Amino acid sequence: MTVITCIEDLRRLAQRRVPRMFYDYADSGAWTESTYRANEQDFQPIRLRQRVAVPMEPRSTRTTMVGQPMAMPVALAPTGLTGMQHADGEILAARAARAFGVPFTLSTMSICSIEDVAEHAGRGFWFQLYVMRDRDFVARLIDRAKAAGCGALVLTLDLQILGQRHKDLKNGLSAPPKPTLANLINLATKPRWCWNMLRTPRRQFGNIVGHVKGVDDMSSLSAWTQQQFDPTLNWRDVEWIKNRWGGKLILKGIMDPIDARLAVQSGADAIVVSNHGGRQLDGAESAIRALPRIVDAVGGQIEIHMDSGIRSGQDVLKARALGARGTYIGRAFLYGLGALGEAGVTKALQIIHRELELTMAFTGHTDIETVDRSVLVEGTYPTA
Ligand code: GLV
Repeated sequence: MTVITCIEDLRRLAQRRVPRMFYDYADSGAWTESTYRANEQDFQPIRLRQRVAVPMEPRSTRTTMVGQPMAMPVALAPTGLTGMQHADGEILAARAARAFGVPFTLSTMSICSIEDVAEHAGRGFWFQLYVMRDRDFVARLIDRAKAAGCGALVLTLDLQILGQRHKDLKNGLSAPPKPTLANLINLATKPRWCWNMLRTPRRQFGNIVGHVKGVDDMSSLSAWTQQQFDPTLNWRDVEWIKNRWGGKLILKGIMDPIDARLAVQSGADAIVVSNHGGRQLDGAESAIRALPRIVDAVGGQIEIHMDSGIRSGQDVLKARALGARGTYIGRAFLYGLGALGEAGVTKALQIIHRELELTMAFTGHTDIETVDRSVLVEGTYPTA
């Protein structure tokens, strides 16, 4: 096997090992995927200033997000159906994150349930919340996350309706996959995935099935989302959630200064500048371009995080330089998970960490806390 040196290597291996339906689910954006592509591409023109003959050691990437210490400013993003990239995926990713010293965020739309992850990977991970029409269910989810000792609640605000993802519709995305001829032919080429999946009982949406009356299978994700997610979600609901939760609250999906200011008023602890990895509003600006405007509007009043497009430690450094205290990786860890299970998630974290701390050294920094805009070449980075 070729030596794995970057996230792209993990992506290629995942593409070979994960059934097409689930690989495509992770590796796709809405409509033309222009925002999905822009998220990655817009990091490229940002240039770094090379410094020489300055202290290089020892280097530290240690920092905090919402006051919680971590090994580097990178959390694992909430990603739906993680347990379909690899059997028991959420548990494996949560274990890898814990061992590395970064937060894992469990999605509402996970395969392994909150309680299952807490039991098998340890407490303290973060929980991502989607708001459903059934508010009793939402309240119970919040209470379950609290009981499982989750360290922060990440409330996603940009997915009350699902962006149209052509690949998912064409593939008939469902969990577990339906036994159609096309699926069976594709599964036959993924023996490792099938073997692991047959050995686990975790093949349905663990937080939902058995917890909502009348839901014992969710054959079509898009139809289910349409029926259950509440399009009336508003800032009063955010207040209700904040009060019910009572812990650290992170609002995800902020791309506009108006929403950023409202988020500050809501009393949340942090916001995530994010366009959901280009999976929702195609045509939205890339997250790295939106970041400086949000920092300009509310920086200093609330902690700012970002996701969407981070594939390397250099991307992390650039986001940090532009004002994001922390970042999240979604696809970058899913590729590792699909490729090699828990070891692959660890590998993804190691790759990003190594890239981050080497780039710090080349730009003349030994401590991530001292990195600011001055590591970037004037005129190459987006501004407010
Ligand atoms: C869910 O979080 C998705 O983007 O599919």
